[in-house]
Amino acid sequence: MPVPQIHIRPGHPDFLDLPWDRPISRWSDPRLVDMPTGIHRHPVVFVAYEEGVYAIKELPVRLATHEFETLRALSERTNRSARPAGLVVRSWIDPGEECSGAVITRFVDYAFPYRELVSGGGFGSRRTQMLDAFAGLLVELHLSGCFWGDCSLSNVLYRYDAGAIEAVMVDAETSRLHDELTRGQRYEDLDIMQVNLAGDMADIAASQGYDLDEADLELGFDITDRYRLLWKELTADLVIRADERYRIRERIRRLNDLGFAVDDVDMTPEGSSQRVRISVRVGGRTFHSQRLREIAGIDASENQARQILSDVAYHEAKYGERGEDRSPTGKAVATMRWRMTQFEPFTNRIAHLRPDIDPIQGYCDYLNFRYNLATERQQDVDSDQAFEEWIDAGMPGFDPELTSQEPETLR
Ligand SMILES: Nc1ncnc2c1ncn2[C@@H]1O[C@H](COP(=O)(O)OP(=O)(O)O)[C@@H](O)[C@H]1O
Ligand SMILES: [Mg+2]
Repeated sequence: MPVPQIHIRPGHPDFLDLPWDRPISRWSDPRLVDMPTGIHRHPVVFVAYEEGVYAIKELPVRLATHEFETLRALSERTNRSARPAGLVVRSWIDPGEECSGAVITRFVDYAFPYRELVSGGGFGSRRTQMLDAFAGLLVELHLSGCFWGDCSLSNVLYRYDAGAIEAVMVDAETSRLHDELTRGQRYEDLDIMQVNLAGDMADIAASQGYDLDEADLELGFDITDRYRLLWKELTADLVIRADERYRIRERIRRLNDLGFAVDDVDMTPEGSSQRVRISVRVGGRTFHSQRLREIAGIDASENQARQILSDVAYHEAKYGERGEDRSPTGKAVATMRWRMTQFEPFTNRIAHLRPDIDPIQGYCDYLNFRYNLATERQQDVDSDQAFEEWIDAGMPGFDPELTSQEPETLR
């Protein structure tokens, strides 16, 4: 049996036990698992290992190599794309053949294809969440120098992220990485997205039995509008007087509120006036998730982390002993107590009751439920009681109509 050349990134299985002598469409391996996918050109299968589930996509060697290398370089710049695990070359097959190469990516946990979000002839009450998800994803990819070249509904995976939807890029076959994108490149990418999404929305309408004139052909244009505002908010320079330094702090706080970490701040005098031009370089949308990882060792996506951090602060304020040590050590103890009495027992219960859902998202759903109860009753609700009531109510999630991550300028 011929053995392929396999290049593996550290931390993943070697995949050598798979039947590489046959095309993946003809595999009947015990490791194969069925997972829902978007619409795709190349054959894709999923395999389960102790380390996790992986997606294997078969395509000609040149394309496979390009996709693997792009995903690898991109994963050093942002966490908004699928993680590449391996590149496979079947050297006994003509490199132009479809099954001569394969790219292996880590399955994106708890992610699902867009079909799960469709309601009516489009995205119904989730439309705003989709606008935010796509605009946010494109802005982040563009900030990291990635020209996508094929942004479409099927080339993205979706995950619930507290009251928002997080989008993850999966298909990088057409992508190119640059140090920085020009405005022309960014707008070309947006044009491609608009055309792709119009086609996708027409297909959704047709598949749901709606007429073409009822299709949401505007979705891509609305994403572009939101993208522009967000891009401007993140990249526009600020010109201040030398005695207005508080405005720099304000600007950084605003960017952090949007979830963006700030990497660098540059200050340049404006000519001979007393004015200073401030330009801020933003990093990824990981401000709260980084903070939560630092203080509690919990990995969550950005909006989940923001909400969980509020819960930590709430518990600290409510249950902290009066006059308790407010030093870093005192705070670390309070966080540990929160983790042991709240986060761990509740997420364990969620995982036990609903192994199919992301327990961290479940925890955010419960926090949102507790908040709504308290607002309704005009008083704090005890955590254990709120948790039981949330379970009894069928573990409801966020109301998509009430959630949006839009920049303030859009409100
Ligand atoms: N790492 C992954 N995790 C989860 N699903 C994935 C992953 N990679 C691919 N998929 C699923 O497979 C589908 C096809 O992958 P894609 O790379 O877009 O292939 P193609 O190049 O044929 O369009 C996607 O729509 C997605 O649903
Ligand atoms: Mg694709």
